[in-house]
Amino acid sequence: MSADSLKISAPLPTVPVSVVKGRELVRLIRESFAAVEPKADELAQYFYGALFAVAPDCRDLFPASMANQRSRLLRALVYVVQMVDRPDELVTFLSQLGRDHRKFAVVSRHYDAVGVALLAALKRFLKEKWTYEVESAWQTAYGLIAKTMRAAAQAETGPAWWAATVLEHRKLTRDVALVKVRTEGLLPYRAGGYVSVEVPQRPRLWRYFSPANAPRGDGELVFHVRAVPGGWVSGSIVNHTRPGDVWRLGPSMGVLNVRPTTTKRRLLMIAGGTGITPMLAILDDLARWKRNPPVHLFFGGRRPEDLYAYDDLRRFAATAPWLTVTPVTEEGALAGGDRGTLAHAVTQRGVWRDHDVLVSGSPPMIQATIAKLLAHGVELERVAYDPFTLD
Ligand SMILES: Cc1cc2nc3c(=O)[nH]c(=O)nc-3n(C[C@H](O)[C@H](O)[C@H](O)COP(=O)(O)OP(=O)(O)OC[C@H]3O[C@@H](n4cnc5c(N)ncnc54)[C@H](O)[C@@H]3O)c2cc1C
Ligand code: HEM
Repeated sequence: MSADSLKISAPLPTVPVSVVKGRELVRLIRESFAAVEPKADELAQYFYGALFAVAPDCRDLFPASMANQRSRLLRALVYVVQMVDRPDELVTFLSQLGRDHRKFAVVSRHYDAVGVALLAALKRFLKEKWTYEVESAWQTAYGLIAKTMRAAAQAETGPAWWAATVLEHRKLTRDVALVKVRTEGLLPYRAGGYVSVEVPQRPRLWRYFSPANAPRGDGELVFHVRAVPGGWVSGSIVNHTRPGDVWRLGPSMGVLNVRPTTTKRRLLMIAGGTGITPMLAILDDLARWKRNPPVHLFFGGRRPEDLYAYDDLRRFAATAPWLTVTPVTEEGALAGGDRGTLAHAVTQRGVWRDHDVLVSGSPPMIQATIAKLLAHGVELERVAYDPFTLD
C-alpha cells in the first residue's frame, strides 16, 4: 500500500482519555491486539504507510530498506503498550528510551504522528471490534508512554549520540569479536548498562550492546559481539569492522548495576552467552573497590566453546577471593562446571534468598531463570534485570 493511498489526517482521535483505567485498560489492549496479531505484517505495512503519510519527514529516520528487517518500532510499541500495568519499571525504561530516541532525530511532533498511525492501523484491522472503550484504552496507554518519552527527551541537554572510533577488532571465537572504541567526548555510563550502536556498514540500523568494561574516564568502551545467524548488524560487526571505522553510540540505558555505597548483601550473577558482558563490566568495577561483597557468578551456554570468556574469568577469580565462577553448559561439560540450564544449575547449587541477584542474557533465559528463582523463595525486588528488551 502506498502512503499516497491513505486518507488519514491529524490530530489524534478525540475520545476522552480517562474512560478506561487499570486492569480493564490492559485487558482491552491485550485482547484487541490478540485479535489482530495474525495480521501483524499487514498491520505493520499499514502503520508505516499511515505514518509516512501523516508525517513524510519521518521516512528518513527509518532504515532505507524496511522490507529487509522486521518492524522494530511497531513491535516495540505494541510490546510496551501491553506493559502499561507495570508503571514503576516502565517509567525508568521509557525515560531512557525517550532520551535514546534523540539519536534517530525524533522530535516532539513525531509522537503525535506515530499515535495517529497506530490508532488508524488498529482501527482498520479491528473493524467492528474497534469500540469506543478499545480506542480509549489504546489512546490512554499510548498517550502515557509518549508523554514520558517526550518529557525525558526534552529535559536532556547532552548529546543525542557520540562518535566513537574503532581502535581494535579481533575475534575471540569464530563468531564472537571484541571491538574496542574510543568516544569523542565522554559518554557517561555505569558498569552493567548498555548503549545502542550504529556502524558505518549498516546505516540507520541501531542495535544494543553492553560494554564489557567499567568506565575509566578515557572514553574507551569494549564490546563483545556475537554474530547471530542471519543477523543484519552483528555479522557485519564481527566480520567487517576495521580499526578507524567510526561508530555512533547512543546514551547509556539499563538497570543492572552495583553501587558501592548501597550494596551490603551477597551477590548472585547469572549470565547466558554475551549476557556476560554487563557482568564483566561490573566485575571490572568491583575490582577497584577496597571491600567487596562475595559474588557467585554462573556463566552459561549451550556448549563449552560458547563460554568464550570463561578462561579470563577463571584467571580473574584466582586473584579475587570474593569471586566464585561456575560454568554451566547444556551439552558437554567443563571441569568444576554444571550440566543443564542456568535456571536449573543455580537453584540446584544453593539457596539464594539472602542475595541480590543480577540476571542477563536472552529474554527466554531471563524469564526461565527468574521464574525458577521465585519458585525457590527469592523475592522479585531482589532481582535486577533489563525487563523491556527486544532482540
Ligand atoms: C540490552 C541488550 C544488550 C545486548 N548486548 C549485546 C552484547 O553485548 N553483545 C551481543 O553480541 N549482542 C547483544 N545484544 C543483542 C544485539 O542487540 C542484537 O540483537 C544482535 O546482535 C542481533 O542483531 P542483528 O542485527 O545481527 O540481527 P537482526 O537482523 O536484528 O535479527 C536477525 C535474526 O536473528 C535473530 N536474533 C536476534 N538477536 C538474536 C540473539 N541475540 N540470539 C539469537 N538470535 C537472535 C532474530 O530473531 C532474527 O531472526 C543485546 C541486546 C539487548 C536487548
Ligand atoms: C511513543 C512510543 C515509542 C516507543 C515505545 C518506541 C520504542 C522503540 C523501540 C523499543 C525501538 C527499538 C529499539 C531501537 O532500535 O532503538 C524503536 C525503534 C525506532 N523508533 Fe521508536 N518508539 C516510540 C516512538 C517513536 C517515534 C515517535 C518515532 C519517530 C517517528 C520513533 C522512531 C523509531 C525509529 C526510527 C526506530 C528504528 C526503527 C528500525 O530500526 O526499524 N519511535 N522504537
